[in-house]
Amino acid sequence: MRIFSGIQPTGRKHLGNYIGAIVQYVEGQHRAAAAGDIAIFCVVDLHAMTVPWNPVEMRERVYDTAAILLAAGLDPEQCIFIRQSDIPEHTELAWHMGAVTAHGDLNRMHQFKEKSARQRDLVSADLFTYPVLMAADVLAYRANEVPVGDDQRQHVELMRDVAQRFNDRFGEILVVPELKIPELGARIMDLQDPTSKMSTTSGSPEGTVYVLDDAKTVEKKFKRAVTDSDDPPRIVRDPSKPGVSNLIDILAAARGTSFAEVEASLADARGYGDLKVATAEAVNALLDPVRDRYTALRADEDVLEAIFAAGAAKAREITRDTLADVRQAIGVGPRG
Ligand code: TYM
Repeated sequence: MRIFSGIQPTGRKHLGNYIGAIVQYVEGQHRAAAAGDIAIFCVVDLHAMTVPWNPVEMRERVYDTAAILLAAGLDPEQCIFIRQSDIPEHTELAWHMGAVTAHGDLNRMHQFKEKSARQRDLVSADLFTYPVLMAADVLAYRANEVPVGDDQRQHVELMRDVAQRFNDRFGEILVVPELKIPELGARIMDLQDPTSKMSTTSGSPEGTVYVLDDAKTVEKKFKRAVTDSDDPPRIVRDPSKPGVSNLIDILAAARGTSFAEVEASLADARGYGDLKVATAEAVNALLDPVRDRYTALRADEDVLEAIFAAGAAKAREITRDTLADVRQAIGVGPRG
């Protein structure tokens, strides 16, 4: 059982990324190793070029993101930890996958619609073909499982279609991967606007909790979180109560329990204040050790580069094989 997932080095990583994705990566790394296979985690710098970027900041953000992932518990001895641009097979395979991707399918992608509407200057071809590179990221490793948050569902479904279409035409060469969305925390919402997902690019700064926010800031953001005006207050998960439901989900994910247990633990609460305080405490307990380790890891960029170099060497042992099979099947490159 092989796992692959990727994360962008854009902006600062927030609680949605942490609970929706990073927690799953750490769990997946152990599960894949226990099954005698491997999990691959990738900082996708090439995907960060699909919207305007600053080249100097790009390198900084890649190191920031790498240090957060390692601080969260990714262990380069147990998984393969890579930077996307170090592995040329990702981009070559993206070209081959583009040949079996329908233009109309790319046109239907929600993310493309949202991000292209926000661009003031150039809507680049790379923004449009973003999901093709994402498909190649996963298919290059013949991964079985892709842990992501809910917002990546459509992209993973597209990559399944692409792999299937390739195999139908050229033989069983690629693995059709499964989507893996966490039961709890697949869609963490903005604390100020609990009907929109928490996001660095489209959310509100006060409603977005960053992994590297200090404990006091985290507390402040939760204290100000939007709830509702139910009188008496009801601490239950319910579609009509998006703010309260979001806090319950975050608290359950941070404590590693079910939302029912969270509801039960707050049955005697006097009001939403108790829920907010409990959630802030649990989130700080989750993030405190990550923030401490981050500072040490981020300080040494040479070590981070060495980790990427070792990861790339391991990764290419897999991706070279896949590309050799794909090239053979589609009839490009030298005779096999
Ligand atoms: P990115 O960098 O936007 O987000 C990283 C992960 O965080 C999840 N996520 C959330 N989960 C819960 N609640 C939220 N509010 C929230 N916001 C973000 C995302 O679903 C994601 O899992 N396209 C990908 C990167 C990528 C990739 C890949 C992923 C490139 N190649 C191959 C998997 C496989 C992205 O932009 O993630």
